[in-house]
This record gives sequence, C-alpha cells and structure tokens, in this order.
Amino acid sequence: MSNAIEARHLRKVYPKSPPGVAALADLSLDVPTGRVYGLIGRNGAGKTTFVRIASTQLAPTSGSLRVLGHSVEGEEREIRSRIACVPQESRPLYFLNVEEVVYLYLKLRGLDPADAKRRTRDVLEELSLVEYRRRPVSRLSGGLRRRAMCAMVLASDAEVLFLDEPTTGLDPIARREVWEAIRRTSRENRTIVLTTHYLDEAEALSTRLALVERGQVLLEGSPADLRGRVRYPYRVVLQGAYPREELEGLGQVSAIEGGYLVFAREAEARELARRALERGIRVSLGPVSLEDIFLDVVGRSIESEETSESPEEPEVEA
Ligand SMILES: Nc1ncnc2c1ncn2[C@@H]1O[C@H](COP(=O)(O)OP(=O)(O)OP(=O)(O)O)[C@@H](O)[C@H]1O
Ligand SMILES: [Mg+2]
Repeated sequence: MSNAIEARHLRKVYPKSPPGVAALADLSLDVPTGRVYGLIGRNGAGKTTFVRIASTQLAPTSGSLRVLGHSVEGEEREIRSRIACVPQESRPLYFLNVEEVVYLYLKLRGLDPADAKRRTRDVLEELSLVEYRRRPVSRLSGGLRRRAMCAMVLASDAEVLFLDEPTTGLDPIARREVWEAIRRTSRENRTIVLTTHYLDEAEALSTRLALVERGQVLLEGSPADLRGRVRYPYRVVLQGAYPREELEGLGQVSAIEGGYLVFAREAEARELARRALERGIRVSLGPVSLEDIFLDVVGRSIESEETSESPEEPEVEA
C-alpha cells in the first residue's frame, strides 16, 4: 500500500465548543508509507485533534480517515495493535523505573520477552537513558520523562507512529538523538506522523509536510515543493549601509539589526547579492527556510481573515 493514512474532508467539532467553531474544518491529506510526515501550524490549528482521531482516541464529526487501510470508525481494533503514539500531554506510569516502563510497554504490545529486553536495551542506549534506567519515572526531570515516553514508542514495532511534539522540552543533544531514532524507524519502512513547532526539525526530518491552519491544510508537499509555492523563494541578508531606496521593488524588505532582510525571486536576489559585494557590504544569500514560508503563508492567511471579517465594535469609545 502506498499510503499509510488517508484523510478525506475530516471535520471535528468538540461537544462544548462554540457553535460553528470546528477544530478540524475540512482536512484532507495522504501520508505515504515508510516516510516521516510533518504537521506544522499555529497553536490551536488542529494538529493534536488530527493525531487523536488518527490514533483512534477521538471520533471525527464527519469525513473519513483510514489508517493502514482501516477506518477509524468501526475498525479501531485492527488499527490499534499496529500503531503507537506519543501524546502531546503524556505521563508514563510514575511508580515504574525507566527500564521497566519501556519493557512493560513492549510486553503489553505483545513482543516476546527476549525481543522486548533487546529493544529496551537498544533504545535506552539510543536515547542516552542508560544512566537513568533504574530511576523511577516520578523522579525524572520533565525532559527526561519526555525522553522515556519517546523511548517506549520508538522501541515498539508499530507500523505507524504518531509523535505529537516529541522533542518539546528536550535539550539540543537529546533532540538530535530522537531525530536519529526517528530516521532509523523510517528506514525500517515504518511511517511517522510528527507534529512540531521546531521548523528546523520539521524540515530536517519530513519527506512531506502539511501546514495546518484553522483545521485545514493550507500548504502541503515536500520541503522543496513548499519553497516553489511562495512568492519569494530566496532570502538575502545585508549587513551594512546599503541604500534603502535601491531595495525598492526588489521583493519584500525589512530592516534588521545592522542592515536589511530581503525576500526576492532568484534573479533579483542574485543581482542584489552581487551589487552588495561590489559595495563591500556583507551579504548572505540562500533559499528561504521553512520558518520564512510559515511566517509568510500564515501571516497572509491571518491578514485575509481579518480583512474579510466584519469590523468589530471599538472596545473604548472615542
Ligand atoms: N477537548 C477539547 N474540547 C474543546 N475544544 C478543544 C479540545 N481540544 C482542543 N480543542 C480546540 O480545538 C482546536 C484545535 O486544537 P488542537 O489541540 O488540535 O490544536 P494544535 O494544533 O494541536 O495546537 P498546539 O500547537 O497548541 O498543540 C483549538 O481551538 C482548541 O481550543
Ligand atoms: Mg497540539
């Protein structure tokens, strides 16, 4: 099968939400098998809601969602044994130690004791948790607890892994260890759905990405596809006294500490870099980052939403 997950016109309205407010408005996407699929978007965009529906913890209001060929409505049992999830808010069993929590999780998933033992040992090593293996989970720091949670899921044999902000609160070294474990998992032809607010992480790991905004997919594709869809795919940083008037009409210009940041099309960006170098101004030129794309696309979506809304009553009368 080429897609591990297929979502069509997915809609979710939480029971107690205000009328007409949907956490997922009309979300459709395909997650290819054996790849890392990144979900990015602002707080409240609907990422966790999608993860909860896809991992059969929450029923959709309407639309369809198939995981490994099975519907999340009616075929939950077929799905559950083949997936694993690191929820956004998670508390592994506090009274167990790190080694026990991983081992028992694997045993509960049906792995035989020898395999569970080997996988536990490997993952504790992979995520540098060996020195903490005998420590009760209740006595771990927040980041170590998160790592223990990641260890459980990344050591499993699940075919689809849902990782909802797995690296939030992790130090930079631990984050990279989780990245490596995610890459290893995807090399085993298993599928990973990853949500993250670290856009460098989303870009480094994801084969494809969906930018979710107000419960819909605003932009979808490989990182290269996304770059091809923005107005200005290049960024130029000028450090020095470049004449502001000569930047007019080149693209999108903003003042930064000691110079300018310019977003432009390739030809304009290269020409600007050449002229800056002639003037002896420090310049860097490169493709836009995922963060640039996010700020541009989501920023414009917020603007268009604001202008299409009817003007609100002023809070304070003049
Ligand atoms: N249990 C709930 N009951 C009612 N509304 C909810 C519930 N959980 C989430 N929501 C609402 O649904 C929308 C989507 O929330 P969701 O948690 O899916 O966003 P998210 O993209 O994961 O955000 P974040 O980046 O902050 O984790 C938000 O408006 C949120 O307030
Ligand atoms: Mg969330």
